[in-house]
Amino acid sequence: MRILVCGGAGFIGSSFVRHILDHSADEVVVFDKLTYAGNLDNLSAFAESPRYRFIRGDIADVEAVRVAMQGIDAVVNFAAESHVDRSILNPGSFITTDVYGAYVLLEAARSMSVTRFLQVSTDEVYGEVIGESSHEGSPLRPRSPYSASKAGGEHLVQAYHVTYGIPTLVTRGSNTFGPHQYPEKLIPVVITEALDDRPVPIYGDGLQIRDWLFVDDHCSGVDAVLRRGTPGETYNIGGGNLHTNLELVERILDLLGKSRALIQHVPDRPGHDRGYSIDSAKLLRLGWTRDRAFDEALETTVKWYVDNEDWWRRVKATQDYQTYFERNYSDRESLTVSR
Ligand code: NAD
Ligand code: TYD
Repeated sequence: MRILVCGGAGFIGSSFVRHILDHSADEVVVFDKLTYAGNLDNLSAFAESPRYRFIRGDIADVEAVRVAMQGIDAVVNFAAESHVDRSILNPGSFITTDVYGAYVLLEAARSMSVTRFLQVSTDEVYGEVIGESSHEGSPLRPRSPYSASKAGGEHLVQAYHVTYGIPTLVTRGSNTFGPHQYPEKLIPVVITEALDDRPVPIYGDGLQIRDWLFVDDHCSGVDAVLRRGTPGETYNIGGGNLHTNLELVERILDLLGKSRALIQHVPDRPGHDRGYSIDSAKLLRLGWTRDRAFDEALETTVKWYVDNEDWWRRVKATQDYQTYFERNYSDRESLTVSR
């Protein structure tokens, strides 16, 4: 089949392209706006493949989407504004891409014979979860502009299934890590700042819990749902690795041989969810298994950043990155609100 991978130049999307080209005979068309997070370097390994094509475009652009979807069998939508801290600083683009963009894709899919429409979502739509695990039927209580916009996109997807019979699928992945992750998310921030012996920022007490999922396992989960999922259904993709941020950061510093004294507690993120945890039993029943043990995957990731300084130094040298970093970290007190 021919798969349109929206957001395929980003962290998880580009890994999904590799997964498809390596594990199937399918063709891939990447459709990506190349925002600050989109990076053609992530796709350079496939540039010569006859089964790969790149189109630059915005999922909120009706005409560009209509053209890109010609001759497509399946759509997998990774395209999103994806970072919670940016959603706190500037929520508007999250609504445009994560909600309106999903609507534009669904409208195009409705007028064409797409056999599968998979929306990549997040466990953050469940909101803060402590001491239990969310399953697919749990209520959605998103608490950040990011998670609220992802929940909005998901609701549209489900509505298009019920109302128009579009064969949709939704995945809710947990916190993902691995090579090529933009250095605004926790793990690559910690690795790259520590490599330069700079302070490593921990929001609040650092006792927040996340469920860490290696990027290759996230991609094989999306692939399993795409091929074997039941239309109209939603599937959690969890790493099964619950760690506090502090524990995780200490492990990374140990792997790098850097001092834990680099850790700097900074004012907390407003509305910071203390915990996430999801139950992946439904996906396991589709035959998905996680391939990578957490310790080994974390080591692989740290090593990738050590070996690929060019990649992340180029990103960190951009004006966009520097402006964001300054805004997010220089005056965190001004972000703090009482809860
Ligand atoms: P990312 O920020 O690295 O990449 C996003 C990609 O989407 C970029 O290539 C960007 O250029 C593209 N994009 C953004 N707006 C676009 C638009 N309007 N039109 C076309 N392309 C656009 O994100 P990621 O971490 O790879 O996440 C991919 C998807 O997975 C997102 O939908 C995210 O919500 C979801 N997700 C991420 C995680 C995680 O931990 N990173 C976990 C669960 C789910
Ligand atoms: P992040 O990677 O932004 O993912 P998400 O907010 O989507 O879970 O953050 C992971 C956790 O790390 C989250 O609890 C916030 C925290 N965090 C820090 O403590 N310091 C940082 O500099 C960043 C970026 C995140």
